[in-house]
Order: sequence, then C-alpha cells, then structure tokens
Amino acid sequence: MKENNNRAAITGTGAFLPAKRLTNYDLERMVDTSSEWIIKRTGIKERRIVEDGVATSDLAAIAATKALEDANVSPKDVDLIITSTITPDSLFPSTSCYVQKKIGAKKAGAFDVLAACAGFIYALSIGQNYINSGAMNTVLVIGAECLSKVTDYTDRTTCILFGDGAGATVLQRGNKRSHILSTFLGADGNHTDVLSLPAGGSKMPPSTKTLQERLHYIKFRGREVFKLAITNLTELITKTVTSSNLTIDDISLFILHQSNFRIIEATMERLKIPREKIFHNIEKYGNTSSASIPIALDEAKKEGRLKPGDLVLLAAFGGGLTWSSSIVRW
Ligand code: UT7
Repeated sequence: MKENNNRAAITGTGAFLPAKRLTNYDLERMVDTSSEWIIKRTGIKERRIVEDGVATSDLAAIAATKALEDANVSPKDVDLIITSTITPDSLFPSTSCYVQKKIGAKKAGAFDVLAACAGFIYALSIGQNYINSGAMNTVLVIGAECLSKVTDYTDRTTCILFGDGAGATVLQRGNKRSHILSTFLGADGNHTDVLSLPAGGSKMPPSTKTLQERLHYIKFRGREVFKLAITNLTELITKTVTSSNLTIDDISLFILHQSNFRIIEATMERLKIPREKIFHNIEKYGNTSSASIPIALDEAKKEGRLKPGDLVLLAAFGGGLTWSSSIVRW
C-alpha cells in the first residue's frame, strides 16, 4: 500500500464557458417547445454556445491555462495532457495535441479519451495512475466540448439539452490530506444504439446520404437513457462509497454529470442524500458532456463548497454506455 503522499491530488482547477447564451426563449423561436417544458423536464434555462470558427481545443486551452495558474505550475512542467471529448477538433490529430501547442506545454505527451459523458473521470483515472505509479509528476486532465457543432437545432428532443464549455484539472502528487481516494470505470456495449453520433466514423463514413439523413448529429432515445441513468448512477454511487469503506453521510458534496436535473434529483432521492449536498449548474450551461464535471468542480471550489479535508464524490453516466466515479479528499 502506497503512502498517501505518493497519491495523485487535484492541485488546480479551471473552466471556460463561451460568452454567447442560447436561452430557452431563443429555442422557442427555433423549434416547437416552451421554456416552461424545458425547465420542468430538464432544469435547464440557458446554455453557452461558441461562435463560428471556434473549436474544442480553443475552449480547452483557456480552461487548461487557468487550471495551471491555479496550481501555480508552468506549462513547461506538464508531463501529459489528456483531453476527454466527443467533439474533437478533428478525428486526428488529437485535441490534446492542439492544446499542447496553444498552451506551450512543450515536453508533454498528449492524447484524447473517448468515453462520452463519463469521459472526464476516465481521463482522471489515467492521470491518477501515472502519478500514483511514480511515472509522472504533473498531468493536465481536461474535459471539453463544442456540442453545438453536433446538435440538430431542428430536433426539439435533443437541441434543448446541450451546451459548449471546458473544464480542466492539474494532477500532482498530493499530501496526506488531499488526494484521489478511488476511481471506478464501467461500460455496457449492449446499449451502443441508445445514445450516439451515428455517422462520420469508419462504420458510416460521410456521404450525401448521411448528410441528408442528418446522421452527423447526436441521436438518442431520451426516455430509455433517462431510466438507465438513474438506475445505474444509484448503483454506482452505492458501490463507490461502500468499496471505500465509507457511507453516504461521509461525503460532503456530490458532483454528478449535469445531464438533466431530474436525473440528479431522482438519484439523490433514492440514496436519501440531502439537497444541500448536491452541486448543480445545469440551469446555466445545459449538458456539456465531458466538460460538465470539471466545470462543476471549478465552480464548487470558487463558491467555497470544497473545504480542505472534505470528501467529494464525482459520478457520471453517458453514451456507450459508460459510467465512472471517483472519491476525492479535497
Ligand atoms: O448526458 C447523458 C445523456 N443524456 C441524457 O441523460 C438525457 C436523458 N433523457 C432526458 O433527459 C429526457 O428523456 C428528455 C429531457 C430528453 C425528454 O424528457 P422526457 O420526460 O423523457 O420526455 P419524453 O421524451 O418522454 O417526451 C414526452 C413528450 C412527448 O410528447 P407525447 O408523445 O407525450 O405527445 C414528446 O414529443 O414531450 C414531447 N417533447 C417535447 N415537448 C416540448 C419532447 N421534447 C420536447 C420539447 N418541447 N423540447
């Protein structure tokens, strides 16, 4: 068993949200919906959307720079950049390579992780293990998305949900107090079809047909995903807490992927978690997939909701299906 001071800790956080707001009232003018319906069914009031010409790495690089400043680390000292995204700048090279250049992290290795909305914690677990093993000292873990680029703004069942943004964390060796206690990853490939972006890959390369059928946009069976998310997150959180020999009461703050406030609320009710222990910002940003947890972590920290020594539970669920969780001692 390693000493706590060898373990990875989050030593810096940063986030960036584009300035342009897409409100429910804007959406009322675009599709057959109402602000009242959206708020009642999702909790979302507005989302942030990038201007034309902005790519995921642009958001990621700003969030990363802020996280490095917060950790008081020079970009030159970063060993590895891992970006979780489903909206990379290009299929290859990786978004992390674009970020590496933009922030000047000359000696860093760089690659991306794809585990949809659960991806940030997947990336966090990779960074955690590089630090815990002693192989690296400083890893930048980013969650960044430009979901507006793959959202069909003629489809009312999906376009109300998604927004753009980026969050980043710096991982370094912790101390006895602050470290990542555990990370859990899971997947079920039997449900690849409930939530996906069908075209553009090797299975369905871009063609006139895929464009005409609007297959380059996110598709999902919302109700199915909704039910799977609540069941899965409830089990995941229970397992995460018990396998660390903790109880729900030991956790000071729960940061769940911000996909739908009703999913967060129903999961918390099943686990009998009081409302004041739940962080949410979905009302401001919608579902930002990989970016939602690092953005929430940064906001929670700035709002003073993460006190030294607190246990914070992160949990996410998304396309794949994939799920992931982590307990962090702040
Ligand atoms: O990040 C992880 C992945 N994503 C998610 O976790 C999303 C999970 N799913 C959801 O959040 C919800 O399923 C939605 C918010 C997408 C939809 O809410 P719902 O309560 O599951 O609604 P529904 O799909 O069962 O639709 C209920 C009704 C339907 O009308 P009928 O058939 O009852 O007449 C829909 O056509 O609401 C209608 N509807 C809308 N009405 C107004 C669907 N979208 C809209 C809309 N505005 N935007």
